[in-house]
Amino acid sequence: MLDIDFVRGQFPAFAQESLQGQAFFENAGGSYTCQPVIDRLTRFYTERKVQPYAPYEASRLGGEEMDEARRRLAAMMGVESDELSFGPSTTQNTYVLANAFRQFMQPGDAIVVTNQDHEANTGPWRRLVDEGFEVREWQVDPETGHLDLAKLEALLDEKVRLVCFPHCSNVVGEINPVVEITALAHAAGAFVCVDGVSYAPHGLPNVGLMGPDIYLFSAYKTYGPHQGIMVMRRALGETLPNQGHYFNAGSLYKRFTPAGPDHAQVAASAGMADYADALALHHGITGTAAEKATGVHDLMRAHEVKLLQPLLDYVSAKNSVRLIGPSHAAGRAPTVALELAQAGEPVAAELAAHGVMAGGGDFYAVRALKAMGVDPEKGVLRLSFVHYTSEAEVQQLMEALDRVL
Ligand SMILES: Cc1ncc(COP(=O)(O)O)c(C=O)c1O
Repeated sequence: MLDIDFVRGQFPAFAQESLQGQAFFENAGGSYTCQPVIDRLTRFYTERKVQPYAPYEASRLGGEEMDEARRRLAAMMGVESDELSFGPSTTQNTYVLANAFRQFMQPGDAIVVTNQDHEANTGPWRRLVDEGFEVREWQVDPETGHLDLAKLEALLDEKVRLVCFPHCSNVVGEINPVVEITALAHAAGAFVCVDGVSYAPHGLPNVGLMGPDIYLFSAYKTYGPHQGIMVMRRALGETLPNQGHYFNAGSLYKRFTPAGPDHAQVAASAGMADYADALALHHGITGTAAEKATGVHDLMRAHEVKLLQPLLDYVSAKNSVRLIGPSHAAGRAPTVALELAQAGEPVAAELAAHGVMAGGGDFYAVRALKAMGVDPEKGVLRLSFVHYTSEAEVQQLMEALDRVL
């Protein structure tokens, strides 16, 4: 069982005077940062803030730490070090990827996108219509927001080069079966691009085992600094045209990151691996980096599922509330969007008065909300938590909801 006191001890935010009594439920927007990341960021800025990879000590150490971040995170996710790269954000990464596919695809080729995604993994791809490519939409069930695999099968044929979908939508919350979807797409001869931004905070997945060609997530939601992280499997990465400087084409991790990376934040991302290792050690989880990551993932998920079910039961029982997505905790992330009679944002503001930090709006999932009949102008109230959330905070949330709904 997750030692919640140990966990919270790794996050300085929980010890801050200004945040006492404030229950944080906007984690899907961005998580608190763990101590090892903050320590590494501080160390980089104070001791190593020089151009990395030069032959003097401060520079050598800075470069080593940047490589360490890639190496350790890649190992946790079951991929090679050079299959993992950093970009300014996931959105920036998808725009670069869409450009690479624009150059790679042939006339008559098609792409499948969903209307469940955050705009980052759908808008850049949809723009390929302007270049003469076909874009097919895998549509959610308007009631539940669910993506049905049979509908995807009907969209796949030999024209499809790429299938883009979320591991988990940031408003529906349902965990999509990446392995099955990937297998279907691969069988049809298509590559797969998964937006893992809403899933990765609940435990880094083993991308190597799951099989997608591209897996994207954002470190600022996984207890790290503000970076986008991209896993690009070698076979696809070496096939797509290089998007970086021509002389870097031989380096896989530089091919899809044309912007110079933020060195300090890349280096500090190794702190995310430190944190996972600390959790593993404290809870007696051993093995390879990937095995430990899986153990930590399972530990986080078990805690979240336990806390989530009472919240789902509570909101499901309220007639004035429409719960978006599944009502069973096991199949979903603790990212709970609610359609209310009133707009989401003012209700979030009322919650703030009760010490609950939550958000309201469309969360850039405009297409998903529209597809489910929710006016994006009105938006939803979103309550999102992660493994460091305590039972007492969920209780505080439900009491606050009692007052404002
Ligand atoms: C599911 C999902 N995908 C993509 C993004 C975009 O990530 P970034 O802010 O790193 O561009 C977000 C951000 O909220 C998100 O929630």
